[in-house]
Amino acid sequence: MSDNSFFPVKQEIAKTAYVDEAAYARLYEQSINDPEAFWGEQGKRIDWIKPYSKVKDVSYTGDVHIKWFYDGTLNVSANCVDRHLATRGDQTAIIFEGDDPGVSKHINYKELHEQVCRLANVLKKNGVKKGDRVTIYLPMIPEAAYAMLACARVGAIHSIVFGGFSPDSLKDRIVDCDSHFVITSDEGLRGGRKVPLKANADKAVAAAPGVKHVLVVKHTGGNVAWTEGRDLWYHEEIASVSADCPPEEMSAEDPLFILYTSGSTGKPKGVLHTTGGYLVYASMTHQYVFDYKDGEVYWCTADVGWVTGHSYIVYGPLANGATTLMFEGVPTYPDISRFWQVVDKHKVNIFYTAPTAIRSLMREGEGPVKKTSRSSLRILGSVGEPINPEAWLWYYNVVGDGRCPIVDTWWQTETGGILITPLPGAIGQKPGSATKPFFGVKPVVVDNDGKELEGETEGNLCIADSWPGQMRTVFGDHERFVQTYFSTFAGYYFTGDGCRRDADGYYWITGRVDDVINVSGHRMGTAEVESALVAHPKVAEAAVVGYPHDLKGQGIYAYVTLNAGESPTEELRKELVAWVRKEIGPIASPDLIQWSPGLPKTRSGKIMRRILRKIAANEHDSLGDTSTLADPTVVTDLIENRMNNA
Ligand code: WTA
Repeated sequence: MSDNSFFPVKQEIAKTAYVDEAAYARLYEQSINDPEAFWGEQGKRIDWIKPYSKVKDVSYTGDVHIKWFYDGTLNVSANCVDRHLATRGDQTAIIFEGDDPGVSKHINYKELHEQVCRLANVLKKNGVKKGDRVTIYLPMIPEAAYAMLACARVGAIHSIVFGGFSPDSLKDRIVDCDSHFVITSDEGLRGGRKVPLKANADKAVAAAPGVKHVLVVKHTGGNVAWTEGRDLWYHEEIASVSADCPPEEMSAEDPLFILYTSGSTGKPKGVLHTTGGYLVYASMTHQYVFDYKDGEVYWCTADVGWVTGHSYIVYGPLANGATTLMFEGVPTYPDISRFWQVVDKHKVNIFYTAPTAIRSLMREGEGPVKKTSRSSLRILGSVGEPINPEAWLWYYNVVGDGRCPIVDTWWQTETGGILITPLPGAIGQKPGSATKPFFGVKPVVVDNDGKELEGETEGNLCIADSWPGQMRTVFGDHERFVQTYFSTFAGYYFTGDGCRRDADGYYWITGRVDDVINVSGHRMGTAEVESALVAHPKVAEAAVVGYPHDLKGQGIYAYVTLNAGESPTEELRKELVAWVRKEIGPIASPDLIQWSPGLPKTRSGKIMRRILRKIAANEHDSLGDTSTLADPTVVTDLIENRMNNA
């Protein structure tokens, strides 16, 4: 797709948008030229208990540290709930749409307040104090939002673990942050199928002796095992406490949450976000990127187990007094029209989803979309991976009937909020491009030597200065934070993504340049999948790479060397896939496993992944320099037996 396909800003959107073209240019320039003044002003959008006088203290070199609004105090739950009570107590805060289309409910701000206060009191009653870590392992039900806000209310740090992760992955995350309190439910429900969350939590907690209590939401009513003294029923506990819980006064730089995410090496890292800057950034981006107007219904289809759910289902929208929809189910249940039926049922105005969902729905044709009205839709959004122009155009023409701008939002768990995106009233769109930086964000493209490239170019995407939503550290491992993000290119935050900047200054994300792959918009470290594979008793060695996949964006391709004496069978292949699912979770399941008697290595024994990526992508004609290979015949064998013959 050429850069020529251009969708200019629609006048009817620009007329009422918060930011039009001229305002974008002016505000962006201000934000870059004088960040202190710009953010000093913007920080006032939330309520402070003690107003800040210091805006920013950041260094990307030497003693790396990032602080925003750092002498101010506030409480995030008070900002997301209490401050709306006087003006919109009866307005719906959360619309819950169940997996079963017959189940939905509206929770207004008054009810949200009561739920959050009660749960906060339950945490206190059970010994949770400011600074303690609470692990949340819940399905997409309102209790997940209550739990996040209740932690914020008492100053506890939440760590949400996606319900699709295995007991082992859950255990690792509980142990890493030394969390003593876990919140889960009996079961989750997705596409009519039950997910045994409590049973998984039981297995995880059995190997995490620090856990004192497991609070269990009765959701499906399914049978669960019970450990007296440790396990507590959510409904019994909240009935036993008062509905009044004053919010804790938190410093702007006190931690708000930890969220584990995959990197290119080692175990997932605990990305730490703090209170003041994060909330300012999440709420500001939610308002401007989606042009959210009072009274609109906003729906982000992500799971709260991912950062998108944190910033754009819960914190951003609720800080703005929005009505945010939480959907428990999947796009294909009970049928392929479900998303659009939900849009019509709740009159959704703003819809935010992932390219992988669009691609899978697009496969089924226009029919299931066109039989719904979707006339309430005004803005569409995309996140998680590059959206291919074909999917963009289908989203635009079929879902949006050519009426709704698409905001293709680029960001990361680490960035806390959206960094590169169109603003609907200000920036025209090119299908496949995340377009331009948000206020205060200064993208820089550098070559492999760290030299800044000017104008139209392609290279590694870095950000030159800080923004308030940026992560502050890796929980418990500041050195890893410094190494991962600030050591590759001195003086910049390195995103791990590659990108192209075109002649109009638009950014096109080309995907990860490190050993992280993006499977259906979910980040996965190849090292994690490899270590799961080699933990199998029959496996000697494994190398994992991503390869282009029609629906998932990238699929997981594993080259596996078996121990001497083991034979490669179809059963063993299935066993290994099941093994990885059990070790990490279904999102890590290898799509293709190739038996590899040998792996291409340099003479010093380093696996040449570049070659493995090429073979997996079926680009074996362009392997590049193979002169450093210890044994070139290994490559010939791999090409002959490759799996991806399509
Ligand atoms: C990718 C998700 C292209 C990117 C919010 C990034 C994208 C990683 C886009 C972060 C987009 C996210 N266009 N690529 N609009 N959005 N990515 O931490 O590679 O789960 O580094 O955060 O997803 O994934 P994460």
